[in-house]
Amino acid sequence: MAHGDTYGEITRPLNVAPQAVGKTAATGIPLRERERARETVPFADLLKRHRGRSGLTQQQLADFATLSVRAIRDLESGRVRRPRRESVGLLADALRLGDTERLQLHAAGGSPTHLRVPLHELPAPPALPEPPAPPGALVGREAELQVLLDQVTVHRHRLVSVVGIGGIGKTHLVLAAAQSLRAKGWRVGWHAPAGDPLCCGATSAAGSRSGEPPPGAGGPADDLVEAIGERYELLMIDGDDAWGPGRVDIGELLRRCPGLRVVVTGLTPRHLPGERVLPLTAMTVPEEARDYDHALLSEVASVALFLSHMRRSRPGFRLRPDNAHAVVGLCRWLDGVPRALEYAAGWCLVYPPELLLARAGRDSSLLSSPAGCGCQDLLRSVARSVDIVAERHRRVLAEVADRPHWTVADLGRLVPDPAAALHALLVHGLVRPAGARLPEHFTVLQLVRLLHGRDRTPTTTAAVRAG
Ligand SMILES: Nc1ncnc2c1ncn2[C@@H]1O[C@H](COP(=O)(O)OP(=O)(O)OP(=O)(O)O)[C@@H](O)[C@H]1O
Ligand SMILES: [Mg+2]
Repeated sequence: MAHGDTYGEITRPLNVAPQAVGKTAATGIPLRERERARETVPFADLLKRHRGRSGLTQQQLADFATLSVRAIRDLESGRVRRPRRESVGLLADALRLGDTERLQLHAAGGSPTHLRVPLHELPAPPALPEPPAPPGALVGREAELQVLLDQVTVHRHRLVSVVGIGGIGKTHLVLAAAQSLRAKGWRVGWHAPAGDPLCCGATSAAGSRSGEPPPGAGGPADDLVEAIGERYELLMIDGDDAWGPGRVDIGELLRRCPGLRVVVTGLTPRHLPGERVLPLTAMTVPEEARDYDHALLSEVASVALFLSHMRRSRPGFRLRPDNAHAVVGLCRWLDGVPRALEYAAGWCLVYPPELLLARAGRDSSLLSSPAGCGCQDLLRSVARSVDIVAERHRRVLAEVADRPHWTVADLGRLVPDPAAALHALLVHGLVRPAGARLPEHFTVLQLVRLLHGRDRTPTTTAAVRAG
């Protein structure tokens, strides 16, 4: 039976809304299904789907097919609809297509219509991975989590950027948000170009200057648009700091997926229209005191996090009068930066907290993972954040780094726009409020101070920033 007889001459765009699905009285076959059977696929879509299924990026496919990446882009965008036969053959080889798929690709590229591939036979674009479960309970950060959830759900913002220095807890926060939203029925997709989101981001550091897309990421916005379709209402993009063609063009993604909302983590905002920025600052640290109420102290977010890590390696560890000051000292010295607290607790297997605190200023290896997992050390990751801020704000940072605390008025002696300078430094997480006892005073993060100390020592500067 000829298709024209059975299905009539209905032609519709490929992206018919799901509510348009109906049945005809005559056949009882869903109309949408029959329309889909008749629709054929343009070469561009077929190529994109085969590439998506293979996990190759545009660059990788170009390399394997010995074509230029521009040729691949032109074909996938539909700018070139009738590729040369040899090119199609090279693409089919590179994609390792079977005989039928190869024929279909040739057909879509201009061969007789009876060879064209019906839409329902097309491989579905690969789905995005699900967000992993958070690596443990979220300590503190209740307010930040609520703000993030509200921005997406109540205020319906389409783009929320969670920003802050490496190790401040961006990934953990968005994973907790994803878990909460999925429990409420949200369809959430996950895209982590930096690799393992539960590691320290060493991959993203390595890729940050190269501009190479990570394997499988594809022409990122194109691939994501394909994979998102109508499947997801929220996409979480974790650690997409690498500049270059591998970076997701979020503006384009939002334009092409009008119902989609995006949460992205990174060292710096995207500066896109409508973007909401949630700067993640250091966790609360305890004030210094002569005596401590241990129950109250263990509720301060940074102490609670430090203790939870300590108990993993030393299950019997408790706050006592003889160690409370050292724990407070470490949390304050490390500015309540979660990854720094995690590393310090790990080193406590070797040194008790008192000794660790005494060594802290002298031994910078304590700012690296004791497990030696190859992840970034904290100074390297903070150096990346310092490098991102504008030159004039970097100069301000260097000026105030050694002062215990300062006000916005003090910055007025250094730059014409002190409030803007302070805002930029706060958003990038390089400075923090000096504490409840010093309202309107700010202080530079200890990690930044250490970085500046090292930068004044020429032999070590290059080593820290190389990484
Ligand atoms: N609120 C929190 N409660 C418990 N653990 C936390 C919290 N915030 C961060 N952590 C832990 O601290 C470590 C660093 O956090 P995370 O990986 O989320 O930082 P990040 O800002 O995403 O860093 P990067 O920029 O390098 O990707 C992780 O082990 C994470 O589980
Ligand atoms: Mg992260």
